[in-house]
Amino acid sequence: MQRRRASHKCEGMSLRSILIHPDPRLKTVADPVGEFSADLRRLADDMLETMYNAPGIGLAAPQIGVLKRLFVMDCVKEEGATPQPMILINPEVSWLSDEMNTYEEGCLSIPEQFADVERPAEARISWQDVDGKQHEEQFDGLWATCVQHEIDHLDGKLFIDYLKPLKRQMITRKMQKLKREKARA
Ligand code: NI
Repeated sequence: MQRRRASHKCEGMSLRSILIHPDPRLKTVADPVGEFSADLRRLADDMLETMYNAPGIGLAAPQIGVLKRLFVMDCVKEEGATPQPMILINPEVSWLSDEMNTYEEGCLSIPEQFADVERPAEARISWQDVDGKQHEEQFDGLWATCVQHEIDHLDGKLFIDYLKPLKRQMITRKMQKLKREKARA
């Protein structure tokens, strides 16, 4: 997800380029992570660096062209608060609340476009960390929205897929124009 504020820098990691919609890789169901190697840790660190730099609050591997089931997020919003970077590998939704919540969502693969999306207000998620260790936690507020948005990316789904077709087509056309401009620059 995209965040509306200035970026900050980390060191010792490298930035990956973020795919812009439309791209077939953003519509692909990603494969489970099977090997918990040093390469996986580096990938996750690069994703965090890329996310913070964007700046964003979540980034899924398919958004940098890696079709694996992992994402990173940090939904700490308050300026100056301690960052809370999270790496979720092979995430699974184990429970969703009946209560719904609406957030104005954005996406680093659909820059500068924001729209209201309604999702379950709470989500219980299980996942593995970079060492393959299993975790489970219940998320609410922006965190719950973010985990659902990012898990959607692993299933080839974007937040604009929840919008009315006309609005979705309008955003897609804007992104096609943006990509043509970038290609020319
Ligand atoms: Ni996104």
